[in-house]
Amino acid sequence: MAEPIINVDQREPVFAGLKPAGDRWKHQVATFFDRLAPEWDARTVIDEAKINYILDAAGVKENTVVLDVACGTGVLFPYYLRRDVTQVIGVDISAGMARLAAKKVDDPRFMVICGDIEVLPVRRFCDCCVVYNAFPHFEDPPRLINRLAQWLKPGGRLAVAHSMGLEALRRHHTKGAAHVSREMLSTDKMAELLAPWFEVDTKIADQEKYLVSGKRKKEKPHF
Ligand SMILES: C[S@@+](CC[C@H](N)C(=O)[O-])C[C@H]1O[C@@H](n2cnc3c(N)ncnc32)[C@H](O)[C@@H]1O
Repeated sequence: MAEPIINVDQREPVFAGLKPAGDRWKHQVATFFDRLAPEWDARTVIDEAKINYILDAAGVKENTVVLDVACGTGVLFPYYLRRDVTQVIGVDISAGMARLAAKKVDDPRFMVICGDIEVLPVRRFCDCCVVYNAFPHFEDPPRLINRLAQWLKPGGRLAVAHSMGLEALRRHHTKGAAHVSREMLSTDKMAELLAPWFEVDTKIADQEKYLVSGKRKKEKPHF
């Protein structure tokens, strides 16, 4: 696994604090997605209407700073570009995925970091945080949400979304990704998890998509 380096070439990801070998789950996830990376874009089915619906819920629009959590090869990058955002920070733990993401769009507003979003120091307070097709690959959902809340400005928006419904997602993950996936939370459970930090205003799980989204509260949670 690569040692942390700082790379100023914008067409390469910045490697930051990448030590998944010390964490069995994360090591398995990074290895799994490194293997899938070369074929990822060819196998990805894009439904623009669905993506735009999700990005609307995440508040992605002009003059926003977006954190794309587990960005993969950057499938959402062209859609951020169309919305004329100020900056995109894409983070992925798989070097194979992050390398492809860094080459996805040639635009100085995009930065790709190869690292673990759960340990990466906050680089910039963001307006929007998008977790697209990735949440089940995090072993500890409260730990992730706690971390993401630190990246968002008060009033900023988080969207946890999938391009398929819960049943399709469950089938998809049992096909060969069971060792790197947890069962997806119901929208109610997800809203409960978000509640200490977020005012949840969107909860959808239909046949073709999953979306839970909300606004970062101003005050810190009281436990
Ligand atoms: C199913 S892929 C989805 C990628 C992309 N969002 C998409 O829709 O094409 C899940 C991604 O989560 C990334 N990932 C899992 N755990 C991560 C972590 N702790 N930090 C950053 N990325 C992570 C994996 O490397 C993988 O690229």
